[in-house]
Formats: sequence, C-alpha cells, structure tokens
Amino acid sequence: MSQPRRRYLTTPIYYASGEPHIGHAYTNLLADTLARYYRQTGADVRFLTGTDEHGQKMQEAADRRGVTPRELADEMAGRFKAAWHELEVSFDRFIRTTEAEHVAVVQAFFQQLWDRGQIYSDLYRGWYCVHDERYWTDKDLGPGQTCPDCSRPVREVEEKNYFFRMSDYQERLVRHIHETPDWIVPTVRRNEILGFLQQPLEDLSVSRPKTRLTWGVTLPFDDEHVSYVWVDALINYLTASGAIDPSQPAERQGFTDPAAGWWPADLHIMGKDIITTHAVYWPTLLMAVGLPVPRQILAHGWWVTHGPAQADRSGMQQPSKMSKSLGNVVDPLELREQLGTDAVRWFLIREMPTGDDAAFTPERFLVRYGELANVLGNLASRVVAMVGKFREGVVPGGPDRGLAREIADTVDAMESAMDAYRVHEAFGAAMDLARQANGYVEAREPWAQAKDPTQADALNETLASLVRALAVLCAVFQPVVPAKMAELAGSLGLDRIPSIQESLEIPLAGRSLTKGPPLFPRADLAG
Ligand code: ME8
Ligand code: MG
Repeated sequence: MSQPRRRYLTTPIYYASGEPHIGHAYTNLLADTLARYYRQTGADVRFLTGTDEHGQKMQEAADRRGVTPRELADEMAGRFKAAWHELEVSFDRFIRTTEAEHVAVVQAFFQQLWDRGQIYSDLYRGWYCVHDERYWTDKDLGPGQTCPDCSRPVREVEEKNYFFRMSDYQERLVRHIHETPDWIVPTVRRNEILGFLQQPLEDLSVSRPKTRLTWGVTLPFDDEHVSYVWVDALINYLTASGAIDPSQPAERQGFTDPAAGWWPADLHIMGKDIITTHAVYWPTLLMAVGLPVPRQILAHGWWVTHGPAQADRSGMQQPSKMSKSLGNVVDPLELREQLGTDAVRWFLIREMPTGDDAAFTPERFLVRYGELANVLGNLASRVVAMVGKFREGVVPGGPDRGLAREIADTVDAMESAMDAYRVHEAFGAAMDLARQANGYVEAREPWAQAKDPTQADALNETLASLVRALAVLCAVFQPVVPAKMAELAGSLGLDRIPSIQESLEIPLAGRSLTKGPPLFPRADLAG
C-alpha cells in the first residue's frame, strides 16, 4: 500500500439559503467514505465542509423570510451541521464564509490580485442568474432569456465591475489539464472542460457594486464593491488550509509559499453542476496569485427523479435533478428514521456509480438494504451462531486461511477502485467477499463437519477462517457503515474496528464471540 501520509479533502460549501437534501448528503458521504478509508490507512486527513453565506441568493432568501441574511445563515449553518452529525459525517472543519478569518483571507486574496495587476475595472453588460449566481452572455441564454443551466429567467445587468484577467491563463490551464491526465475525474468531465476551453476564455467579473448588493465581502481597494460570491466561496478551501495569514504584511502572508499549511488541497469533491467554477475559475485565480492548484478534482453525478424531463444545455432531455426548487427532494433523514443511518449511507454510496447519475426509488433502496441484511448481516449472525453452537462461543485455534486468496483479491480490488475513485466498485468488491464467505459456509458444511469426530480440525479451520473473514469485512466496510461495523467488532471480541492491515493479522483464536441483535434487521418500507 502506498498511501500518502496526508490528505486534504473538501466538499462544496452549500448555499445557506436552502435546506440540506439528499444531493448534499451524497457529496458529504462520498467525502466521508474517502476520509474514513484514508484515516484507516494511517493518513493524516483534513476533511472540510461548510456553508456559502454571501450573495444575492442569500439576500433575497432572507428578504422573503423577513430576516437578515446573517440570521438566515446562522439558522441554516446549524441545520447543515446537524444533518452531517446525524449522518455521521466525520468532517474536521466546518467553514462559514461569514467568518472573520475567511473574510480577511478573501480580502488578502483580492489585494494580491490587485497588486499583481490581475484585475481591472470596466462596464459590464450581460445577464445574471440569481439561482446559480452565474453571469451569462447573450449567446449563452436559453429560449425566452433564461439561464442555460436551470432554465429560470435571468436579469439584465449593466454596471461597473472589476474583472479578473482569466483569459491570460487559458493556455496554462489547458497545458495543465493535458499534462495531468487524472486532474479532473471522471474523464467525461475532463473532456467537457477541455471542450469548453476550445473557445476563447473570457475575463471574469469578480465584483458587484454595493448599489445592487451589499451582502458580501467588501473589496480592499474599492469599498463601493463586494466580491462576486463564487470567488468568495472558492477561497474557502484556501482559508481552511491555514496557508494564508492575513495579519501579516502582503509579502509575508503566504502567497509566495507553494505549499503552506494544508495547501494545496488533495481533492475537491463536488457535483458536475459546478465543475466549471472549480476547474476553470479556481485554478486560474490560484495561478494569478502564485499558489499551486489543487491536486485533483472529482465531479460526481446527480441524484435524479423519474419526474418531468428537463432540457439540458444542449437541448437534450434528461431526468430532473433532485433539487429543492423543483420540489422533488427526498429527505435522507426520513430514510434514516426507517432503517438507520448506515442503511442510508450504504444505499447512497453503493447505488451511484461515482461520476454517473443515479435514481432514488424505494425499490432500489430495498435491494441495496437486502445486501446488507441477507449477505453481510446473515454471514455475521450465522458464523457467530456456529461458533457458539460448535465451539462454545470461543474462536478455535489452527489455520484460518480458508478464504485467504479471496481476502487478498478483495483488498487489492478495493485499493485500485478507491485510487480511481470508483467508490461504488470498491464496496461492491467488499460485498462480494461477504458473498464468497457465505459460499464457503455452503461448501464446507460445518454442520456436517460437526457431526463427524474425524472432522474436528477441519471444522476448526472452517470456523477460524470465517471469523478471520468477518474481521476483514469489519475493516473494509467501516468507511461506509461505521456504526454497524463497531457493533460487529464488539461481537468478535475486538475493542475497536481494526485497520485493514490489522484485520489480516490480529490474533483471533481464543476470543469469545457474543451474539447481539441482528446487524441489519429485515425490513420493508411499506406503510
Ligand atoms: O453550488 N445530486 O451550492 P449548492 C447530487 N454554494 N449532488 C447534488 C444534487 C443532486 N441532485 N444537488 C446538489 C453551490 N448536490 C455553491 C458551491 S463551492 C465553493 C460553492 C450537491 O447548495 C453537489 O455536490 O447549490 C453539488 O455540486 C452541490 O450540492 C451544490 O450545492
Ligand atoms: Mg445549486
């Protein structure tokens, strides 16, 4: 195993204008699964999530509710945090863009851009989509002057703006993408960005006049303007890395240090809806202030419903993305009440091929839950029961390598799948090991071995091999179903979930197994 010692992982910071939903939950669970997996390999992990609290969308959402944007942000940041606690998302830092530290880093970043001649002011005329907080030009617009991404009406704007010389970095960005083939994962998104970069890259408007919007970070060189919310938001990754110290004079703030604090991030994780901001705006902004770009960008697909089809940018029909505003959101916390947190985690991680879209249906949920109950849960309960019945609950000594080849193959398959961020595949391989162990039970027929005194050693080997497999399963499933694997570890007489390496070698003979309630009780969602 050649895992790096440290990993800095990020999720998007979600708009604090709406409630957390299954889409946000998926991103955070994907990040959490990776974080838990890396920690298990001994890496030093920093896992960042948070809320995006400035901008027109926040201002308008607060106005509609008759509260201040800060009151709305405080309430919603609390809701997001609570949702992540309930789903056992093990983030290390929750950032809010209204934090004083972040505001100071945004201002220091803008000052750097300004001092380096990367910003100029000009008149902006174009269109703005408040929902996506994106500017569009005439040629981008959908039918009837609508946003090409979300189809909502856009607003015409004409105002003085500051522009970032993004166009100067087009060549360097394209070169970086070519030289770093796995910089954007999956390839379909990399190709999308390369396609986008075949057109001349325009400069980026990075400010809004306070006459239009005051809820943002004031620019350090013009207090009549605030930062464009996307620039403010992207900088959160840098703020939380601790690389920049805005209390120092400009030349000592950290902008010349290629790798300070946790910077550069190892992986930015997000949905495919915001790949352009992360793979074009953000790296070019970083290049312009002399900082290294993130090591990798992973864009996953959308949870969709089978609801009314929606035309995408190219005019193709596709299933609707689940979103609050479309009113078709499934609340992950509701699913959780029925079958538990780990069941929701398993469904989301196992069902969606990382990178592709997937649909939620109660039927698919039950199929995935069935794997937990009938394959993994069933294996655990029958092995513990047989050790109880045939060996008085104590793991027998002797060889325990009956499933050694299957275990080694699984660990390898999982490692390469995780390295390629094919997370669903990694855990598919884990479930296959549980299936193989059930097959081993059928093939060895321990109940028949138990009846034949000449088969005592063979029975010991059968049982010891199965307990070994359970220890390994406990380790490999831990990133997705941590609470249930803690229970399993307890029933195996282990004081905690072992790492994968530990699970292969930790002595098991002589441990007393305890039969607990079923890990995954049979269930149906009817009623
Ligand atoms: O874009 N399926 O915030 P946001 C899968 N504040 N993932 C989904 C999803 C779905 N149906 N719906 C949302 C913003 N997501 C900005 C980000 S980052 C510097 C600023 C997830 O609240 C997915 O990760 O609209 C998507 O990229 C993100 O939520 C958008 O969250
Ligand atoms: Mg959005």
